[in-house]
Amino acid sequence: MEINKICVCGSGTMGNGIAQAAAQAGLSAILYDINQPILDKARQSTDKNLQKLVDKQKISLSEKQEIIQRIQYTTDINNCLAPVIIEAIVENLAIKISLLNQLSDINATETILATNTSSLSVTSIAEKIKYPERVIGMHFFNPATIMKLVEIVKTKFTNEKTSATVLALAQQMNKVAVLCKDAPGFIVNRVARSFYTETLRLVEEGLVSTTVADKLLEASGFKMGPFKLMDLIGNDVNYEVSCSVYEQMNRNERFKPSYIQKEKVQQGKLGKKTGEGFYTY
Ligand SMILES: NC(=O)c1ccc[n+]([C@@H]2O[C@H](COP(=O)([O-])OP(=O)(O)OC[C@H]3O[C@@H](n4cnc5c(N)ncnc54)[C@H](O)[C@@H]3O)[C@@H](O)[C@H]2O)c1
Repeated sequence: MEINKICVCGSGTMGNGIAQAAAQAGLSAILYDINQPILDKARQSTDKNLQKLVDKQKISLSEKQEIIQRIQYTTDINNCLAPVIIEAIVENLAIKISLLNQLSDINATETILATNTSSLSVTSIAEKIKYPERVIGMHFFNPATIMKLVEIVKTKFTNEKTSATVLALAQQMNKVAVLCKDAPGFIVNRVARSFYTETLRLVEEGLVSTTVADKLLEASGFKMGPFKLMDLIGNDVNYEVSCSVYEQMNRNERFKPSYIQKEKVQQGKLGKKTGEGFYTY
């Protein structure tokens, strides 16, 4: 099934990027959030990102306008009607289930409900939705406009039509889609946990500072050091993901979140999105 319209729920770091990536690939995108100021910020940030592409002569001014016109911003859930919905709201099982059920009630019976969760069990989401066969994980990476990978997470309920449609959609969006099993953190986030937790432990033990750790790891070949990356992801999101993987891995010490992450969240130092995290922006 060829998809030409999607609805993205949550216009934060990920939702905004996913909607922009879809619009750049020629799809129409409805971008929904409960928070009008965040929606306004998303619109401004897309405008700024696209202007950079105009300045670099990668797209023309008229292409920029066309891309922007393909995105419809809304705070009204009744506008969230599309053949594919990608949910990118807060990393909380109950809130995601509640939203997806509301969306399934107002949409056509064939609508696919995809979740961009980084760490929650897609099966646990699907089994609480009226149509579990249409629920699937579509895990984009940050920034979604640039990062090519999308982990496609099927559950025991997901039907063939849903997975085939979502795989084709990811390709339409010029992404590299990889099918993976529904396991804590899927593949990339399971591996990435150690990247963060091990460097956080080095800092906890006073063996290195955050800035030196970033410099060392970048010099060793990583594109971004762990502290810069945590600030980009959002310390609240990354901490939630750490806690979720830790719980699902039966509190295995290897995955134990750091108190430093918790402290950043309590202080509201969430990273780039709040202007301060491990660094000041
Ligand atoms: N940040 C990352 O690097 C990253 C990468 C991949 C996946 N993810 C996942 O994507 C999801 C979103 O993460 P994010 O970093 O974009 O978070 P974020 O905090 O930047 O944005 C979340 C947005 O969801 C909105 N929201 C909350 N409840 C809502 C509801 N009931 N209905 C509509 N909107 C609602 C909030 O207003 C906010 O704008 C999470 O599941 C996260 O695990 C994040």
